Amino acid sequence: MRFLEPLSCVAPSMAQTAHRQYFSCPGSITSVGCLRCVRHREGRVATRTISNGCMLFSMSCRVSLSLIRLALPRNPTPLSKPASPTLRASIHIIRSFNSVHSASTLFSMPERRPFVRLPTEVFPVNYGLRLKPDLIDFTFEGKLEAAVEVTQGTNQIVMNCADIDIITASFVLEGGEEINATGFNYQNEDEKVTLCFPSTLQKGSGSLKIDFVGELNDKMKGFYRSKYTSPSGEIRYAAVTQFEATDARRAFPCWDEPAIKATFDITLIVPKDRVALSNMNVIDRKPYPEEPNLVEVKFATTPIMSTYLVAFVIGEYDFVESQSSDGVTVRVYTPVGKAEQGKFALEVATKTLPFYKDYFNVPYPLPKIDLIAIADFAAGAMENWGLVTYRETALLIDPKNSCASSRQWVALVVGHELAHQWFGNLVTMEWWTHLWLNEGFASWIEYLCVDHCFPEYDIWTQFVSADYTRALDLDALDNSHPIEVDVGHPSEVDEIFDAISYSKGASVIRMLHNYIGDEDFRKGMNAYLLKFQHKNASTEDLWECLEQASGKPIAAVMNSWTKQMGFPIIVVDQEQHGSDRVLKISQKKFCASGPHNGEDCPSWMVPISICTSEDPSCTKIKVLLDQPETTVIIPNVEPDHWIKINPGTVGFYRIQYSSAMLESVLPGIRDLTLLPVDRLGLQNDLFSLARAGMISTVEVLKVMEAFVNEPNYTVWSDLSCNLGVLSSLLSHTDFHEDIQEFIRDLFTPIGLKLGWDSKPGEGHLDALLRGLVLGKLGKAGHKATLEEARRRFKEHAEGKQILSADLRSPVYLTVLKHGDSTTLDTMLKLHKQADMQEEKNRIERVLGAIPAPDLIQRVLSFALSEEVRPQDTVSVIGGVAGSSKHGRKAAWKFVRDNWEELHNRYQGGFLISRLIKLTVDGFAIDKMAAEVKSFFESHHAPAAERTVQQCCENILLNAAWLKKDADDIHHYLLQRKAPPV
Ligand code: BES
Ligand code: ZN
Repeated sequence: MRFLEPLSCVAPSMAQTAHRQYFSCPGSITSVGCLRCVRHREGRVATRTISNGCMLFSMSCRVSLSLIRLALPRNPTPLSKPASPTLRASIHIIRSFNSVHSASTLFSMPERRPFVRLPTEVFPVNYGLRLKPDLIDFTFEGKLEAAVEVTQGTNQIVMNCADIDIITASFVLEGGEEINATGFNYQNEDEKVTLCFPSTLQKGSGSLKIDFVGELNDKMKGFYRSKYTSPSGEIRYAAVTQFEATDARRAFPCWDEPAIKATFDITLIVPKDRVALSNMNVIDRKPYPEEPNLVEVKFATTPIMSTYLVAFVIGEYDFVESQSSDGVTVRVYTPVGKAEQGKFALEVATKTLPFYKDYFNVPYPLPKIDLIAIADFAAGAMENWGLVTYRETALLIDPKNSCASSRQWVALVVGHELAHQWFGNLVTMEWWTHLWLNEGFASWIEYLCVDHCFPEYDIWTQFVSADYTRALDLDALDNSHPIEVDVGHPSEVDEIFDAISYSKGASVIRMLHNYIGDEDFRKGMNAYLLKFQHKNASTEDLWECLEQASGKPIAAVMNSWTKQMGFPIIVVDQEQHGSDRVLKISQKKFCASGPHNGEDCPSWMVPISICTSEDPSCTKIKVLLDQPETTVIIPNVEPDHWIKINPGTVGFYRIQYSSAMLESVLPGIRDLTLLPVDRLGLQNDLFSLARAGMISTVEVLKVMEAFVNEPNYTVWSDLSCNLGVLSSLLSHTDFHEDIQEFIRDLFTPIGLKLGWDSKPGEGHLDALLRGLVLGKLGKAGHKATLEEARRRFKEHAEGKQILSADLRSPVYLTVLKHGDSTTLDTMLKLHKQADMQEEKNRIERVLGAIPAPDLIQRVLSFALSEEVRPQDTVSVIGGVAGSSKHGRKAAWKFVRDNWEELHNRYQGGFLISRLIKLTVDGFAIDKMAAEVKSFFESHHAPAAERTVQQCCENILLNAAWLKKDADDIHHYLLQRKAPPV
């Protein structure tokens, strides 16, 4: 997932999403981010007597449900043990590696158990579901009454089911007798149960009844408990759900596949003083006859939908409400007493709904939509139809205490999840192979929506820095994967919520949108949504609709981007023929270790646009490169005019210009005639070519110096991120201080220009830029910045002059980076006092900057303490690893020493992948790749397998880069300081 927000490379201000954070620049993490969440603790041990029949059980929440099962009536007998979280298919990492170029063979792909989708002899039409959670004992009781169709006579029903115990099951054929199941065969590994019946269930309509029990777990998946503190300071729990991708089966037995859609009638039995929400509006609320303090809340029937989009929440919340111009009731639910903090998201949501209605030309189909902040939440947000769940930091904005990057992040996340209400919920992918359609599309259109609501954010330039370049970096690895990938088992599904599905998906849709043009693109989207509404679709279905609308060869072009991994490097050279400029353009696969040189080089259908210095914002010529090379003639180009390929940085490729072409275009950086997005793109391409060994890193440093007068926030942010990567790499050398000096020199003029205090008339981007620059200068040890940061921090901590929200991250980072145990103590005190999760996260992310080894250990212990919500542990450890060479080693040791707890805490979900990436990606010594590989051979993390491979590849690439360029970089950094002779 683009899961978190900004753990920007250096800047406390760059807003990225969760998955974006995951792929943040190695080594430069000490900065910001907007991940948040909560931490739940050991389950409490309750002691009540298990009473057969009635659903009052007691249990320690750590006691297996099978204990409950044992105490229950034994009719019928389970044929196998119900699932407790089980170890899934193990990884077999077998191949060895010896060079960067063999990184693709670091590990063999593991042997997977054959995966089979559910049989279709019996499928659901409607789920009548009653759930009664117990917020004290952390259990729930459930009753399912599903209307099903039997398409072929059978004496068994196979469904998904995990971590729940079935007590009774029976089947009634319409107008027939009830048949009790005689056994339940749990296939724990496959997360399935087979209900066995003594006679054949005949073809036709019927009703399947199942009584079951489960645990409100503390793993942030399925039906789980989320801990919060009441305004009076009491610890309480809410019961909430997170079903995507494959965890609805942990809340009720179901056909948990996206293509098996049905309607849902949900009833929740809850304490009468709690808020109970689900996908639809409440249609009935009445006392629960057996227990006077409970009520029975019944929700309207949902449209036909996939199980992963079902949701319910039971807890204490306040809300703010509004009506969108198209008549939908929008509510934002917040923790009690914090309704004000929901106002910003409410405004965004009420603007966004009509925007999408207009864009898709399809109305939002439900009567209401709720957006709710959940304390313990693994992802950034989840698009459950009509009840969207968020981390607190992805939804709540306090006008005084939230920074500009948080506002931007909330706008993007709201824009993203609301887009899914159409693209994903109304039309759903046929199988997880097409997940990218959901996530790539939403990750693209969230920018369109934010650009509509907040044009002053210049959000598309930020897209290039946050998503596009991130996707290029990941996709250049031998261990990348195609956008469309065969997946079966849940761990394989979890694995593809990554930057390829999100950021590459969004980038190729942006390229496609540009290729087709907005009008035909919208026409095609509308046709697609209307044709497949309330159904499922695949990537091909979308191409067909877009092809029809545009008359262009969409499938042929797009298949080359979605079915094969990687992307091309476009090599360009030019000659002047009279008044014509003749370009020779060719493509090769770009690899992080250099261009592909083999015979079987893949190729792409590449839409290429070209502009000239005559009008750098206007495309002069467009070609579709559908072969390895071509010649393009641009008429009427003056000999002294430069040529730029890919204006707007829309095409998903890197560019290698001939030296002469590059020389001619570089002045466009200094005189700002190149567009900001192209200045950014050019610099980013050069940086990536340097890492791949195709040009010298010294050349890139020289280009970076040309940015000294750069005014644009996003351009600085990208540059800063790359310098963070380089600084991290050079932390392995004895001239790390020299690159700090380079950074200080580069950022000083802009720092002086901006100053510390905002000036009248400044806007969003100025606030982001100031935070970025001061943070960068402070971290790099710029004396004046450090002194001022210390002064302001002291006043802030003493409560004399509270820092503005936008200055907190850079100041915290600066004082910690150059701080001691007193600084850390003060920071931890501020953390404890903070009421807003945004502030806690702000602090958590920079704590790792503290340099002293004993204090680093304190920070690492803090990461696993009660003070940090479980989903945020990852960014504390990541902050340590990204801060220094010592931090990286200490964090890696800490992860190894605490592996069991960490793995258990995240149940091998995507947070474990993120943790691994943040911890080890910055190493730059060959033997560390071997060490990482060896550790994960004996400590399996199935959903992180590919991440481990990618990290090992990155470590080898870093090591190769260092070997190749370190001496030259050192020499350059020394000579630029030497007085001219
Ligand atoms: N559908 C995802 C939530 C999700 C992510 C579920 C991973 C299961 C596994 C949601 O739409 C999403 O993409 N959320 C993002 C935030 C978004 C703004 C990119 C996230 O959680 O990072
Ligand atoms: Zn999404």
